[in-house]
Amino acid sequence: MCGIVAYVGEKEAYPILIKGLQRLEYRGYDSAGVALIHDTGKLDLYKCKGKVSDLEEFTKDKDKSGRIGIGHTRWATHGAPNDINAHPHFSGQKDLAIIHNGIIENYAPLREELENRGHKFDSETDTEVLIHLIEDIQANEQVDLAEAVRMALNEVIGAYAIVIISRKDPNQLIGAKKGSPMVVGVGDGEYFLASDATPIIEYTKNVVYLEDEEIVVVRKGQDIKIKTIKNQEKTPYIQELEMQLEALEKGGYDHFMLKEIYEQPRSINDSMRGRMNLEKREIAMAGVQDYEQKIINAKRFIIVACGTSWHAGLVAEYLIEDLARVPVEVEYASEFRYRNPIIGEDDVVIAISQSGETADTLAAIELAKSKGATIFGVCNVVGSSIARATDAGSYTHAGPEIGVASTKAFTAQVTVLTLLALTLAHKKGTITESRFNQLIVGLDNIPKQVEEVLKLDSKIKYLSELFKNSHNFLYLGRGYNFPVALEGALKLKEISYIHAEGYPAAEMKHGPIALIDENMPVVVIATKTGIYEKVLSNIQEVKARSGKIIAVVNEGDKEVKNMADYTIEVPETYEELSPLINSIPLQLLSYHIAVMRGCNVDQPRNLAKSVTVE
Ligand code: G6P
Repeated sequence: MCGIVAYVGEKEAYPILIKGLQRLEYRGYDSAGVALIHDTGKLDLYKCKGKVSDLEEFTKDKDKSGRIGIGHTRWATHGAPNDINAHPHFSGQKDLAIIHNGIIENYAPLREELENRGHKFDSETDTEVLIHLIEDIQANEQVDLAEAVRMALNEVIGAYAIVIISRKDPNQLIGAKKGSPMVVGVGDGEYFLASDATPIIEYTKNVVYLEDEEIVVVRKGQDIKIKTIKNQEKTPYIQELEMQLEALEKGGYDHFMLKEIYEQPRSINDSMRGRMNLEKREIAMAGVQDYEQKIINAKRFIIVACGTSWHAGLVAEYLIEDLARVPVEVEYASEFRYRNPIIGEDDVVIAISQSGETADTLAAIELAKSKGATIFGVCNVVGSSIARATDAGSYTHAGPEIGVASTKAFTAQVTVLTLLALTLAHKKGTITESRFNQLIVGLDNIPKQVEEVLKLDSKIKYLSELFKNSHNFLYLGRGYNFPVALEGALKLKEISYIHAEGYPAAEMKHGPIALIDENMPVVVIATKTGIYEKVLSNIQEVKARSGKIIAVVNEGDKEVKNMADYTIEVPETYEELSPLINSIPLQLLSYHIAVMRGCNVDQPRNLAKSVTVE
């Protein structure tokens, strides 16, 4: 994973790098570091274990001047998260410094070879091996640095986004990527390189997304140059960013996660905007139109995703099978790619990913592509690797999600997948016109209903106070709300570190019921559905064993209210759309419990937002 940022131009680099690293901290926060070339020509490297704020503390009394520099925030893979393994890394002569996101898989034999030739290594990282290799090639082959980088990358197996600076050439940044993202910001005589556009946006909107195996060389005041590692010149394609700076700031909220929860009326609306036309009773998804015949005639949909996106995939399974009557399989991308799955040309693979960079999802796409399947992407980050690797797709348009625990991206994914299921059903004639009309009117009403749910915040905060010290939680749901139960449990464990499990309510009696006693809070999603009565029986089963019931019910519900210890009353919608409403109180419950326990909700321990390692 890791976040990288680099600058060359007339401005002071350090503040740009620090701000950029803060924006990239969602990619990992085990350690942070910068390297700067001062106007005196000295190359200094400052790095330490911990967060970007620790780095700022560490550099308090250091010389931070310089108009060229590189910065890194790390999610440890090779080597413990300590000061030495933090990036940047020096070459042996300390003339070059590198930052790297990715994994050099053949670093061990390369290291051995270099050690045999006298190279000494300070860290345990694969990255340090790469910079020594570049230094070695430059010295032995008598080539310039860009050529040495190109030659070295031909020897490397694995994934990388790298930036290198040289003390001997203080106006130049060299970047390259394969399997990890890199964006080049093209300013007025200045350049920025970063893992995504967030560190760049306030300086320039002109960007180039680097393709795999491309090397970029940028020099202050000169044109950008791109070539491949096979030495082919490329013409840079400069595009304009649509992202707004305000979207990257907390806007008065205590945490990004809370801001993003509160943004959902808007983000759900944005996911539908331009796609649903109520007057004409129509849904038009450009991504589907591009591959209409393939998608409409798919014999089967296979959904690949990880984490929260996988939960959105489960909701899509219920939707597509129920409404469009096409078989759906939902797979963890990490399992799918290694289990020799059966995939054919009539299959459509739906890849769901907020970041568009998840390594396992990307690998699952490549596998499915090689077997001839059509790939449809549902991504949030525009221009991301997954968005570019798919044949067709629909962006979720939720805006940047900074909190590591996904909230608005989930509801945006579910919204887009609902539109997709409805489109399929309508085109295939598996839904009546009146049902289709009801559901699109219902969907259009969801943002307003989510606004109502958000008004329950103080009640949910009160409940959080009562349960903040629990050691375990069980989340139960059925049908469309089984994935909501899984997502509710995932949110709680991610940010509060309380053990939580999501279960289909009826499965509880096959195991988890043994855990229930008076200390076990059980969150039950009990809104009106076709199997509401069955959920009531499941609640009774918990009650009979003294479990504490927190039930999410529809406004005015009396039956569950009589049985549950606490209820959260949400507006009623159609069962098919209920995950969009019912997931919101569970997000708030996790948020408040985590805050009350003193956890860092935006950056929970050991996690990262974008998982670009297998
Ligand atoms: C990480 C994040 C999760 C996310 C998952 C999949 O684990 O912490 O929030 O759901 O990756 O990420 P993606 O970007 O592919 O949706």
